Amino acid sequence: MKFFIDTANLDEIRKAKEYGLIDGVTTNPTLLAREGADWKRQMELICKEVDGPVSLEVIATDAEGMLKEARELVKYGPNVVVKIPMLMEGMKAVRQLSEMGIRTNVTVCFSPAQALLAAKAGASYISPFIGRLDHIGQDGMDLIGSIVTMYRNYDFKTEVLVASIRHPMHVVEAALIGADVATIPFKVLFELAKHPMTDLGIESFLSDWKKTFGS
Ligand code: G3P
Repeated sequence: MKFFIDTANLDEIRKAKEYGLIDGVTTNPTLLAREGADWKRQMELICKEVDGPVSLEVIATDAEGMLKEARELVKYGPNVVVKIPMLMEGMKAVRQLSEMGIRTNVTVCFSPAQALLAAKAGASYISPFIGRLDHIGQDGMDLIGSIVTMYRNYDFKTEVLVASIRHPMHVVEAALIGADVATIPFKVLFELAKHPMTDLGIESFLSDWKKTFGS
């Protein structure tokens, strides 16, 4: 399973990179707005900082506008993946971008039907938002299961990129289902390492050592 980090914050990207666990980055308009900096410069810096794919999202909601923005976004680096919102106009743009050899990530996906359309259009990635579904009382992980099954049935090449992750079990369950990528918030990346038994185990090893050999 590939791990992307879901952030537009350069400090978080650099810190996460130090652990050697990050295969790519996903951003969205909210995450970039949160940085409040010059967004063009921010996109450029993120693309330079990361070796793997970096998703940058278009703002337009019509195919023509999306294609125009996509042509600008890919100038930030060879690793750019153009993030396209799940709209019928978006599908038109995805098809054309895929024919131009530009990778796409179809975002704001909440249903298996939408994921099927994205794969038919030739998307490189589909981003189902599981945390937001959980928040409205639907099981986000059911959606991941349905998409993985559908894509396997027809050998679609679109990768399932689990997004809107809230906690470690989202990552673990997505891995058990066989999703290709989890885009993980910085905080959750560190939560994955935590277990109280690990803390207690390390504490007792160190204390036994110190009792006998000193520090
Ligand atoms: O980047 C897309 C997605 O991961 C957003 O998640 O936390 O805004 O629901 P969230």
